[in-house]
Amino acid sequence: MKVVIIMPAYNEAENIGLMIEELFGKEFPQIKNTEMHLLVVDDFSPDGTGNIVKKYQAEYKNLHLLQKPKEGLGWAYIRGMQYAVNKLGADAVMEMDADFQHPPRFVKDMVAAFLNGADYVIGSRYIRGGSIPKEWEFSRKAVSFLGNLFIRMVLLKPQIHDLTTGFRLTRVKGVLDQIDLEHLMEPTRFAYKVDLLYQSIKNAKKVVEVPLEFASRAKEKSKFNPKEMISTFKVAIILGIKDKQKIIKFGLVGFLGYLVNAFALYLFTKLSWPGWAAWGLSTELAILSNFTWNNLWTFRDQQINGLAAIASKFLQFNLTSAGGLLIQVGVGVATDYLLGSQYRQIVLPLTIGFLVMPYNYLMYTLVIWRKKASNPK
Ligand code: GDD
Ligand code: MN
Repeated sequence: MKVVIIMPAYNEAENIGLMIEELFGKEFPQIKNTEMHLLVVDDFSPDGTGNIVKKYQAEYKNLHLLQKPKEGLGWAYIRGMQYAVNKLGADAVMEMDADFQHPPRFVKDMVAAFLNGADYVIGSRYIRGGSIPKEWEFSRKAVSFLGNLFIRMVLLKPQIHDLTTGFRLTRVKGVLDQIDLEHLMEPTRFAYKVDLLYQSIKNAKKVVEVPLEFASRAKEKSKFNPKEMISTFKVAIILGIKDKQKIIKFGLVGFLGYLVNAFALYLFTKLSWPGWAAWGLSTELAILSNFTWNNLWTFRDQQINGLAAIASKFLQFNLTSAGGLLIQVGVGVATDYLLGSQYRQIVLPLTIGFLVMPYNYLMYTLVIWRKKASNPK
């Protein structure tokens, strides 16, 4: 396994040399069965951070340097991740600061979690064993803790305790390689990390939090500021709403599907069609309505276009919907026998609401309108 630590460094001349020595001299040798690399992303720091790295490259062959114009923290990580994946063939990438606020001794815990099968590892300050600096003023602690709590609630991720940490590990296969890095929200800011975390958690099967004792900054001062904080909240709110918008639209389309279904069922019942035909055809009409409106509206951002693609996807949609059809016809026919057909108009909405809709939402997001895989370019 190859793990690449991506370390943006802007004017970290005082820290970067020590950091390289600690990682290569002390920490990496303790990590077995893993090829550890360090990639420093330097935006041509005026203090000569890049030159220091170059000197150490003669000594450590797994030390890499990427230099580029200054575009903010998000882009430093994005370019670093693309380099790590495409040029270095990383199996996992880590995000880590150069200023010792992420003490190097925690690297091995993160890698161990990865080797144990985690797809996404979060260095967490807010779980047992993790901490923020004791010497921070109360107000700073409060902002950090409450800000995190706020984002946890907005994103509906209460199970994760640290959503803004800058110390993380991401598996490339299935997680990072599914994310369109070129279009992250707020790539010039620290807020990039909220969007990245949000998408990574969606892709990751196993998310693990590992305690991190966040240290206070050794030298120089932080580049984080109120502007960065506001943009971080903004990204969290937008992502939070975006998610719910989809559910609402899906619900409305589903409700329309229900109306189509109910009306057709009413009609076919009137016509005394046999049960399987009445339930079957009315359900198929609802499927057609669902496919059309979800494609045009709910999942517009992954819209299926072109006659051939639509035809083949609709076929696939019918297959996944066959699951829903089976559930519905099964429950319908069974309750016909048990209760009599006079309860059909009660059985139908209950079956749709509690069984078919949750099943459908899963199928739509995981199969039909699945986010397209794109290699980090
Ligand atoms: N290349 C590059 N370009 N590096 C940058 C830039 C940039 O524009 N801005 C910051 N960095 C580097 C710094 O040199 C440092 O290594 C790291 O990114 C973090 O910057 P700091 O200025 O030390 O940030 P912080 O300590 O305030 O923020 C920490 O806490 C935040 C909140 O929990 C970081 O860990 C953040 O990632 C975290 O979100
Ligand atoms: Mn820092």
